[in-house]
Amino acid sequence: MKRILTGDRPTGPLHLGHFVGSLRNRVRLQNDFDTFIIVADVQALTTHWESPELLKTHVQEVALDNIAAGLDPEKVSIFVQSMVPQIAELTVFFGLYTTVSRLRHNPTIKTEAKQYGYTDMTYGFLGYPVSQAADILFCRAELVPVGEDQLPHVEVTRFVARRFNELYGQVFPEPQAKISDVSRLIGLDGNAKMSKSLGNAIYLKDDPSEIRKKVMSAVTDPARIHKTDPGHPNICTIFAYHKAFNAAEVPEIEECCTKGTTGCVACKKNLMAKLEETLAPIRERRAEFDKPGRVEEILRAGTGRAVAAGTETMEMVREAMQTDYWKER
Ligand code: TRP
Repeated sequence: MKRILTGDRPTGPLHLGHFVGSLRNRVRLQNDFDTFIIVADVQALTTHWESPELLKTHVQEVALDNIAAGLDPEKVSIFVQSMVPQIAELTVFFGLYTTVSRLRHNPTIKTEAKQYGYTDMTYGFLGYPVSQAADILFCRAELVPVGEDQLPHVEVTRFVARRFNELYGQVFPEPQAKISDVSRLIGLDGNAKMSKSLGNAIYLKDDPSEIRKKVMSAVTDPARIHKTDPGHPNICTIFAYHKAFNAAEVPEIEECCTKGTTGCVACKKNLMAKLEETLAPIRERRAEFDKPGRVEEILRAGTGRAVAAGTETMEMVREAMQTDYWKER
């Protein structure tokens, strides 16, 4: 079976943006691929190095979000990045031939640097896409289901693999990104991206009353004051969510909004019902796995499988790079 690798930074609970951009795809693909899910704690530290005390909770939370969303821990390997030393080793080797200018031109890095207000960048932050290449290549994954903001990083990974193979011999596949049909979800405030730091997110673990509050206060078409005013669905947050969670009714909703026959409140209520269809089973699975020690046990098992895959890859890498000094030939 071909391998998939994808994952998240443990900087807080996962939201609907993660779900639509990547989580939903992971769940669909888990039966057809050998799936590795990384909880990228080292990557989280590239921006949050001053608060390591938050890691343990966030690692557990992100793992549980993935399981609750429908990943089967018997089938997929969910693991912690920092517990797989082969990823750190590969990061060093990949950094040998990846230039600083390639990293500086990465649009996602530029956006994030601006967002965090960096006037200078740490070596670790600028280089995290190289580390992410190691996240993907340590198990020789071929497919990477991600949201579109991750495409520049997958490009770096493809470069890293291709160049390694040219320099030292064929070891790595050149992995493909797999972008979902709805690869980005706008925030409740109409901001381009749902994100924890913007405070405009619905979390997978939110309960129905929280979701109700959030949906009811979400921004719709500002030009639509009365129910009968013709609406502009394409600038409406709620319509974007219908596209992501209620595809079947989209043509009808578009028509009723444009003609002014359905009001925003009814449209929001309809959306809440559809969100519940997605979120209620996730809540149930969360309760099932949210038992003392259960998530840790899953992470330990997954990390063990990741280390085994990494050990196999490092043997190939050491041979290719002629650093297998003590090996009998
Ligand atoms: N950069 C990803 C994010 O911010 C998380 C991540 C780390 C990742 N390593 C990865 C995603 C490897 C895909 C593959 O969401």
